[in-house]
Amino acid sequence: MQDIVKAVHSWIIEAGEQIKDNLNKEDLLVETKSGRKDLVTEMDKATQDFLIHKIKTYNPDAKILGEENGLDQLADWSGQVFIIDPIDGTMNFVLEKENFCIMIAIYEEGKGRFGFVYNVMKNEFLWGGPEIGVFNNGKEIQAPKNIALSEGLVGLNSPMLIHNRHHETQVSDRSLGIRMTGCAGFELIALIKGQRAAYISHLAPWDYAPGGVLLETLGLKMANIAGEPLTLSGRELFVGGTPKAFDELMDLMNQ
Ligand code: IPD
Ligand code: CA
Ligand code: CA
Repeated sequence: MQDIVKAVHSWIIEAGEQIKDNLNKEDLLVETKSGRKDLVTEMDKATQDFLIHKIKTYNPDAKILGEENGLDQLADWSGQVFIIDPIDGTMNFVLEKENFCIMIAIYEEGKGRFGFVYNVMKNEFLWGGPEIGVFNNGKEIQAPKNIALSEGLVGLNSPMLIHNRHHETQVSDRSLGIRMTGCAGFELIALIKGQRAAYISHLAPWDYAPGGVLLETLGLKMANIAGEPLTLSGRELFVGGTPKAFDELMDLMNQ
């Protein structure tokens, strides 16, 4: 394993242990952000701070784009950039105490170099990048089968299905079923493992960049709803899938 991969892997495992230690904390501080369904806990903030401390010790010049603590915008993408989602699936963390991930992407000169997605309670850790391939708990994995929409499940968020602005009900009909897990990392891992034909959601850069590096390394596709590259700025309608399912979705959702 390259040094940087080994280092980030160990920081994320350590952060995961801290989260597990605080999983049942009775007085866990939980606040809302944009609305009552958008939560942040003291562990989201503490985990991001912990990871940034490790990153800055490793590379003081590294830039950070992180979901919490006012670090959610980045104008200059030169050099090495770490994109952090300290807890992806905070609602699940608070209510289910499982089905949440810690995620980091490393970009260099604007290009995705490494991605790390760790499903904490399942101890399932996917990492990799274009130079090294993709690994699941240390075992190299290959691209999933190029299944069509009619052959697989689709991860989707519930407001999209309810509002049906992009023919989501047709997507549901054509697929073998819809899954809603409340955790982008969980969905991207499922897609990489061949358990989904596609995943569609409104996502921020820290939601899709870590898993996105892994997807693209394995030849899976992702883009915004117009088929254009995601911009790493603000929320966008993310569409990811096998090459076959992705092309079908572009046609179906843009009718
Ligand atoms: C959320 C989850 C969820 C997705 C939301 C994200 P958070 O991340 O990934 O699945 O639908 O758009 O914001 O806020 O729990 O890190
Ligand atoms: Ca988060
Ligand atoms: Ca997230």
